[in-house]
Amino acid sequence: MNERITQNAEETREEGIRLGNSLQPGDIVALSGALGAGKTVFTGGIAQALGIHEPVTSPTFTLISEYEGQMPLYHMDLYRLGTPGEFAWLGVEEMLDGQGISVIEWSERAGEELPERAIRVVIDIEENGLRKIQIHHPEGKAS
Ligand SMILES: Nc1ncnc2c1ncn2[C@@H]1O[C@H](COP(=O)(O)OP(=O)(O)O)[C@@H](O)[C@H]1O
Ligand SMILES: [Mg+2]
Repeated sequence: MNERITQNAEETREEGIRLGNSLQPGDIVALSGALGAGKTVFTGGIAQALGIHEPVTSPTFTLISEYEGQMPLYHMDLYRLGTPGEFAWLGVEEMLDGQGISVIEWSERAGEELPERAIRVVIDIEENGLRKIQIHHPEGKAS
């Protein structure tokens, strides 16, 4: 587990870039943290690392947006998911199992439906607006 404190959005974005640079085709990044914690900012950093320059926004209403970079980026936001079971009904298996990168905001809403091989990123809002970012790589995989 890797933990960092960021002081502002730019530093959070840099942490996203750092993780993004280490990602391999097919990787899944599962983000969790309160509203406004910085999940979308972090995702913007991952997108930048993949060579995507368009602005990244939360696909809260569409649930999924797709960006073309060095590899495809599938950006999901499960805020509006009713139950974990609905995740299976979204038809995202092809994305999760494909050659792109899947980044999932509000991934905790997928519960047990979330693939075990996901890299889990937890962002906490600390005092003074600082953010604590914890990155948990799945068992048996080096960071
Ligand atoms: N250390 C920090 N890291 C990330 N965002 C921060 C930080 N400090 C302040 N912010 C602000 O918090 C907001 C995070 O928004 P966003 O990434 O959309 O959150 P989420 O997707 O988790 O709801 C932005 O307005 C950003 O400027
Ligand atoms: Mg968001």
